[in-house]
Amino acid sequence: MNLVPKVISITSGKGGVGKTNIAVNLGLSLVQKNKKVLIIDADLGLANVNVLFNLKANKTINDLIEGSSTIDDILIEGPGGIKILPASSGIFSMSQIADSSQHILLSHLSSLSDTFDYILIDTGAGIGKNVLFFNSISHHVTIVVTSEPTSITDAYALIKVLNSKSKIKRFKIIINQVSSSGEGKKIYGALYGVVSKFLTVSLDYLGYIVTDKNLQKSVLNQKPVILYAPSSPSSLCINTIATRVEDKLQKVSQTGSIQLFWEKMVKNADF
Ligand SMILES: Nc1ncnc2c1ncn2[C@@H]1O[C@H](COP(=O)(O)OP(=O)(O)O)[C@@H](O)[C@H]1O
Ligand SMILES: [Mg+2]
Repeated sequence: MNLVPKVISITSGKGGVGKTNIAVNLGLSLVQKNKKVLIIDADLGLANVNVLFNLKANKTINDLIEGSSTIDDILIEGPGGIKILPASSGIFSMSQIADSSQHILLSHLSSLSDTFDYILIDTGAGIGKNVLFFNSISHHVTIVVTSEPTSITDAYALIKVLNSKSKIKRFKIIINQVSSSGEGKKIYGALYGVVSKFLTVSLDYLGYIVTDKNLQKSVLNQKPVILYAPSSPSSLCINTIATRVEDKLQKVSQTGSIQLFWEKMVKNADF
């Protein structure tokens, strides 16, 4: 049995719900717990992760797929040694990567996977091919939901598609932009109600993040909120989620390499 990094996707049905901020700050919180973390910017046509860090990406995942660069040329390093695989902005073809490109990407990623404890994948929103692909290669699919009714219905739609097309049966849930723990539980309850009525999947609540002006300011200042305002309400919520991720998500041990796992998952999916 090999010990492989925990691969966690941060995804959503609706856009603008806080995925990129959650991926970046959860990653930094895990780094502060001495974990080695890679963040993959998987919103391939609309890169955001390096922008939140105010880091320049000279090369991107696009150069990797085209074969003109190695993964070491492309990875950039952020605060505390966190590694980032940046995406490209404004390249339309990247919004639907080809099957052969998926294969190339997986083999590059598996070459460095034993260096990391966690790989966090910040996906785009919706139910497009790339979103299904990146969720299919994750051990733990994490759906971000807010209180907006459209966010809840879009989360339901995404769970339904990921279950039917990618055969994913378990989902982690983070509720973002709420006023209290009680509101977080209420929204989780609403999602749980509709999902358990119509689908045979299991949901697991990872926690909530409050609406916080510090987080908005941190985005404007291009410094992740965990570093910009470490004791702000949203940072404390994110640290709690990171502790839960550490405690709750079992160490992933599997027979065979992570590439074999990934390829099996992709083969079983239909997207
Ligand atoms: N907990 C929060 N408190 C306040 N504002 C938030 C919070 N989460 C997200 N936002 C706002 O939503 C915007 C979009 O967040 P982002 O992480 O880019 O979403 P996504 O990646 O899902 O599109 C942020 O720039 C910020 O203004
Ligand atoms: Mg984003």
